Amino acid sequence: MALSRLQINHVRNLQQVSLEDLQQVNVFFGRNGSGKTSVLESIHLLGMARSFRGNSIKSVISHRETDCTVFGMVTLPSSTSAAAAGLPLGVQRNMAGEVQIKVSGRAVRTVAQLVEHFPLQVITADSFDLLTGSPGARRQYLDWGVFHVEHRFFAQWQRFQRCIKQRNKLLRRGKIADQELEVWTRDLTDSGKTINDYRKGYFELLKPRFLAIMAGLAPSLTSLELRFRQGWDKQLSYEAALKNSTSADLEQGYTHVGPQRADIRVMYDGHLAAETLSRGQQKLVVCGLKLAQGQLMSEMGKGKCTYLIDDLPSELDQQHSQLVCALLASMDAQVFITCVHQQDIESVWPETKELAMFHVEHGAVQRYSPL
Ligand SMILES: Nc1ncnc2c1ncn2[C@@H]1O[C@H](COP(=O)(O)OP(=O)(O)O)[C@@H](O)[C@H]1O
Ligand SMILES: [Mg+2]
Repeated sequence: MALSRLQINHVRNLQQVSLEDLQQVNVFFGRNGSGKTSVLESIHLLGMARSFRGNSIKSVISHRETDCTVFGMVTLPSSTSAAAAGLPLGVQRNMAGEVQIKVSGRAVRTVAQLVEHFPLQVITADSFDLLTGSPGARRQYLDWGVFHVEHRFFAQWQRFQRCIKQRNKLLRRGKIADQELEVWTRDLTDSGKTINDYRKGYFELLKPRFLAIMAGLAPSLTSLELRFRQGWDKQLSYEAALKNSTSADLEQGYTHVGPQRADIRVMYDGHLAAETLSRGQQKLVVCGLKLAQGQLMSEMGKGKCTYLIDDLPSELDQQHSQLVCALLASMDAQVFITCVHQQDIESVWPETKELAMFHVEHGAVQRYSPL
């Protein structure tokens, strides 16, 4: 999957931007405040129907406007002529928080129906909080991967969310007939076990790729480890763990154990990487985690994801920027990357001639050719 065209309306300071003929590697350069991050934000909106900053959509819509729209054409990794023409995607968001998503001209109901067509990986300044932040962000990271390689995952995940919501509602109510709790517990056990199996299977494939990438990115970090925590005692079946925690669940009004408590931990020398590694080393680990997912997806024949990378040269030193760019180039992934000066990426990308350059100035984006 790769984005070949993009139209942006009313996203931050981008009033109306139209980009044609997008390439494998697209570099957006310009002064601070020109609108580079907003271009990445627009692509994220197209792929995920939400902002990548995690804040409300209101801050993404241009001031004095009531909605924003992005439209794009995604080419599919298929040789049929229909697919070669590309798949049109469109997302509109308004100030009331409403979402309209169109895939191939038809309105779709869920974001998942959009996400499957245009998988995105994001590396921004905020991404580097992955190790130090909440387990929820790391579960989201893991589930991104499972979702894109295992098409049965999402239905089970939805089922699990429904069950746990219901079970917690019952638990909060206090007085519950055993039978009623049992019904939801049974469904929860079933979907929870399935989700966990998918996550574990994916994790086992991801781990060696992550470690191989890190050996290239940071060879001095020899004792890195990646661990998966499923959310309950690994000696126990989910059934048994739920049984053990029933009285605590009833007492405190929520389900204590399960995939909703899962986490992945990066360890260094037996300690949490988040507490041990320098900020610079943590950034490399996060890059490694994100690159490993794209690599795995492509190796499994599930298509290629597109990378949105904000201002890499100001996050990493020259040597490590070079290593990350070399990995991206070798993965053959589509990349949208921003920097202040034109040469910031040119000087770290392995093959300059492949780069499509765009100059961003006061919310306008121009294809830039040095000739
Ligand atoms: N909702 C908005 N409406 C209009 N302009 C905005 C909005 N939010 C931010 N901006 C402006 O958009 C400009 C571009 O921001 P950004 O894309 O982050 O720049 P950069 O090129 O440094 O990445 C900034 O000058 C910012 O003040
Ligand atoms: Mg920026």
